Amino acid sequence: MPETRRRSFIKGMMGMVGSLIALGYAFVAERFMLPPPESAATLQKAGKSSDYPTNTAKLVVYTGDGGFPDGVYIVRLAKGLAAYDEHCAHLQCPVQWSQPTLTFNCPCHGSVYNVYGKNVGGPAPHPLNYHRIVEHSGQVYIGGIVPWGTPEWTKMAQSFGAIGKFVPGRIPGTIRWSSKV
Ligand code: FES
Repeated sequence: MPETRRRSFIKGMMGMVGSLIALGYAFVAERFMLPPPESAATLQKAGKSSDYPTNTAKLVVYTGDGGFPDGVYIVRLAKGLAAYDEHCAHLQCPVQWSQPTLTFNCPCHGSVYNVYGKNVGGPAPHPLNYHRIVEHSGQVYIGGIVPWGTPEWTKMAQSFGAIGKFVPGRIPGTIRWSSKV
């Protein structure tokens, strides 16, 4: 094989190996960085509907996705239940509910979130992430995380009146029910 052909063959092979490695990284990133699709298996019971009076927040631990335990605040708003991930949007400290002010306050650098999880003070750059939540036959279930800024987050915020137009009767999220629930 002439020298120039051998070099271009080697270059081509190296390019192919590089592409395969990049594909591998992309697969790993997709697998571990994106939230998994919701399924009945990842839903977790979070008490009875009567455990959640209006404008109160209760902290529960979510382990339904098999990952690290995740603190989730469940709040009953005038238009329905909402579930917020407890981690501050600034540097991930756990926020704390304050009943007198109806806010979530971050003890680390002073971020404040209102009852809808919207950042209203401090360095937090955006609202809290949500978790999927639904009530069924007097029972509350929570599901996987819904990151702020995604179309699903926006739809959920609209459904309980945090932003935009409320659509009555809509259950937020894409939870599928099964007989296991
Ligand atoms: Fe919450 Fe910095 S981590 S304000």
